[in-house]
Amino acid sequence: MNKKLKSAALMKRHETMFQCPLCSADMTVIDLKSFICRNRHTFDIAKAGYLNVVQHSSAVKYDKDLFEARRAIAAGGFFEPLERMVTDRMKQAGLPSGKTVTILDAGCGEGSHLARITEKLQSGSGLSLLGVGMDLSKTGILAAAKHEREAIWCVADLANAPFRNRSIDVILNILSPSNYAEFKRLLSDDGIVIKAIPKGGHLKELREAFYDAPEKPSRSDPADRFCAHFDLKDRTELIYRTVLDRQQLLPLIKMTPLSWNAEKERIASFAKKESASITVHLDILIGGKKAE
Ligand SMILES: C[S@@+](CC[C@H](N)C(=O)[O-])C[C@H]1O[C@@H](n2cnc3c(N)ncnc32)[C@H](O)[C@@H]1O
Ligand SMILES: [Zn+2]
Repeated sequence: MNKKLKSAALMKRHETMFQCPLCSADMTVIDLKSFICRNRHTFDIAKAGYLNVVQHSSAVKYDKDLFEARRAIAAGGFFEPLERMVTDRMKQAGLPSGKTVTILDAGCGEGSHLARITEKLQSGSGLSLLGVGMDLSKTGILAAAKHEREAIWCVADLANAPFRNRSIDVILNILSPSNYAEFKRLLSDDGIVIKAIPKGGHLKELREAFYDAPEKPSRSDPADRFCAHFDLKDRTELIYRTVLDRQQLLPLIKMTPLSWNAEKERIASFAKKESASITVHLDILIGGKKAE
């Protein structure tokens, strides 16, 4: 079966979780080609095997090079401790057995975090899992659909997701923007949200090399906003350093918007290093729905 038919068949199996992003009506998959809602809004499934519900191409500045660089860096294990922690936290939260657990990565980029996290979680667990990756960037979702294993990939705005109320058991939101009202609408009653937010020391070596400013300027604590919406179940500060060799420095530079405004000479001189020790510094927040 080709990629489009395989993805369309997976979407068809789970079509009851979808709703029209324009009018909120239920949607069904027609001829393994497109979704159509009761009010006849239609969204095609792309050849590469993803659903696009966004009418206009997005203004998101992330391009193919950035997503490829993120994929290469992540494949080298740079985010492995983060992915392991997210997986462990999900296991500790106790995922429901006897039903398919739906894990939505909101702002999934090129999708490899979701793929590795579901794979780790699945291994030897006997759980039935469905990964759903959503991003406003078509470039990111195209890369995800091309490279990753069975999951539903969708170009959509996380502020207006094409999924029904309470259809998601776990929302991952890794280094991406959020819309908490929408997350609450999507989450099942005993579902959880796992959010990773960069802290002051995150990629500080790049900040230092490009701007002489090692620490990220501190704004108000983003966790306060999270806690206003969700019942905080756990909060962990994750900090580690990884040594990257010369070949990995260029993808590191390309994978982050930190390099967008840096002087070319500074970027070139950083890229010439033999190796660099790079800090990952994140706040991992886990929340559930507040009691009404
Ligand atoms: C820094 S990247 C992180 C991507 C991925 N989670 C990772 O860690 O590699 C932020 C992502 O958020 C996505 N994004 C920004 N605004 C969005 C929106 N309104 N809806 C969905 N995705 C959005 C971008 O396209 C980008 O892929
Ligand atoms: Zn509709």
